[in-house]
Amino acid sequence: MTKSTNIQWHDSKVTKAERQQMKGHKSAVLWFTGLSGSGKSTISAELEKQLHNMGIHTYRLDGDNVRHGLNNNLGFSAKDRTENIRRVGEVSKLMVDAGVVTLSAFISPYSKDRYNVRQMLEAGEFVEVYVKCSLEAAEERDPKGLYKKARAGEIKGFTGIDDPYEEPVNPEVTVKTDKETVEESVAVIVEYLKVEGYIL
Ligand code: ADX
Repeated sequence: MTKSTNIQWHDSKVTKAERQQMKGHKSAVLWFTGLSGSGKSTISAELEKQLHNMGIHTYRLDGDNVRHGLNNNLGFSAKDRTENIRRVGEVSKLMVDAGVVTLSAFISPYSKDRYNVRQMLEAGEFVEVYVKCSLEAAEERDPKGLYKKARAGEIKGFTGIDDPYEEPVNPEVTVKTDKETVEESVAVIVEYLKVEGYIL
């Protein structure tokens, strides 16, 4: 619900296209979605390093990190997850406007929320990367010990256990982290970005 009234839009005198031209590359959001423990943070961090080394201006937004600050007033109810993704979508959009290749890594379990972020952006600016990993493999890894707590009933509404994860139907890229190494998954994404002309 919009509460802001009596507000006006002010155009800048520098455009997104001019910022992109200065940097020498397009800007877009690479949106990583997948179960907790699927490898979103690991893969996006490694990809960011490689893109940075190619001279691309990047920034990474990560669920656990953003929830320490901007979104520290949000929990894990469906309403709060939707608000989490809405805000992060808006921040990603600002980053793209600034000319930055933005890597956003959030479980983002609900298709509708991801669709809404896609709609905020222009065609080609939203690259959905499905970090596909079986629940069994993610639970086996359990890097933060949260699946164990969820199984013990100490965390309620945990994604994949007692809260849904809605798989992307038509993501731009899928990486299978229970079958590939981190290097292989990153290479799949880099290849996509090259073929589609995001990077040279
Ligand atoms: S999202 O669902 O709103 O997209 P987000 O990516 O920001 O989630 O945060 C997920 C991280 O929060 C997980 O990796 C995990 O460390 C932690 N977490 C704590 N409680 C839950 C929960 N109930 N479900 C999923 N993740 C949780």
